[in-house]
Amino acid sequence: MSTSAITIEVALADRSYPIHVDAGIIDRAGELVAPLTGNRSVAVITDTNVAPLYLDRLAASFAAAGLTLEPIILPAGEASKNWRTLEEVTERLLDLGVERGDAVVALGGGVIGDLTGFACAILRRGCRFIQIPTTLLAQVDSSVGGKTAINAAAGKNLIGAFHQPVLVLIDPELLDTLSDRELRAGYAEVVKYGLIDDPAFFDWCEANAAALLARDRAALAQAIAVCCRSKAATVAADERETGDRRALLNLGHTFGHALEAEAGYSDRLLHGEAVAIGMMQAFAFSAEQGLCSPADVARVRAHLSAVGLPVTPDYRGPAATLIAHMRQDKKMSGGKLSFILTRGIGRAFVAKAVDLAEVEAFLDAFATR
Ligand code: NAD
Ligand code: GLY
Repeated sequence: MSTSAITIEVALADRSYPIHVDAGIIDRAGELVAPLTGNRSVAVITDTNVAPLYLDRLAASFAAAGLTLEPIILPAGEASKNWRTLEEVTERLLDLGVERGDAVVALGGGVIGDLTGFACAILRRGCRFIQIPTTLLAQVDSSVGGKTAINAAAGKNLIGAFHQPVLVLIDPELLDTLSDRELRAGYAEVVKYGLIDDPAFFDWCEANAAALLARDRAALAQAIAVCCRSKAATVAADERETGDRRALLNLGHTFGHALEAEAGYSDRLLHGEAVAIGMMQAFAFSAEQGLCSPADVARVRAHLSAVGLPVTPDYRGPAATLIAHMRQDKKMSGGKLSFILTRGIGRAFVAKAVDLAEVEAFLDAFATR
């Protein structure tokens, strides 16, 4: 264990679990996984980019703990979050004889984590799973909290379940091989925590983004620790998003998901990039509604632009098409949609029943700015 190792508990009574953050922890994964699984032959779901980089190391750590690793390697990318891949994965897990008391490991980014989690939520009505996130986005957000899903033709993450992992192992060194573009996309979710309710962390982001994106170890460790602590507290307080607290984590997502759908869930627009544009739109719309100062909008735009994240969409079609995607949002209730809006940096709130005609007019104007 390194001196900078930390453990954060996600406190959910008998479903509580630890998030261990430590450089090189992938080499100790076997000893940490072994006590949590009944099977000695453990399925590891990963993708075609991550497998050649880290599967051998994980297999070696498993072997040292008396486990063997059964790899299930999926095509990399958002398009794998679909019914067909889910079917393939669940059938394969059944072929392997995975039982409820066995654990399945997700080794990859948010796509692998979300898909594996959902497969484990429905396999024999629920088996254990362990997250070993390998992207910044997954290390600061998606691996924690038990939201699992696949995409549907009607929209993103519309088919899914809440199913908590039993363990999260975060190895910041795995980010060494991540592309600059993916690191930056994940950084959008880092900034999100500051914009929601932690203005001091947004100050920190402004001061430290360059170092973080240059993969400075201390900056990455600090960001991962702050984000995981925040997410763990949010999930413990509002696991199933029945109140407003967890909903705040969707800042920028309603706007962003519509853009992702129009980009065909492809690498034309990465999830984190869509979130960056969506957060910008949430701030600009809030300012237009007189809720937030133009100075805060300008500050957010300046920071996202400075780190190279997009702040306006490439999409040039009618806003009505984006609104049609938003009507499929999971937050729709009684025909009304709530949005995460803001009174300024660190002051996000849930605005119930926002008038979609106003959002549509705003988006038509936003595209031409
Ligand atoms: P991803 O899983 O597609 O990973 C991005 C790319 O990086 C992929 O090509 C992958 O193969 C590659 N990669 C992963 N780790 C690597 C490494 N260490 N070195 C080199 N390449 C590596 O995408 P993502 O950005 O991690 O996750 C996005 C997904 O997460 C979206 O589907 C989004 O909906 C979901 N998400 C879920 C939650 C949640 O709470 N469940 C939260 C946020 C986002
Ligand atoms: N990433 C949103 C959530 O976990 O609630």
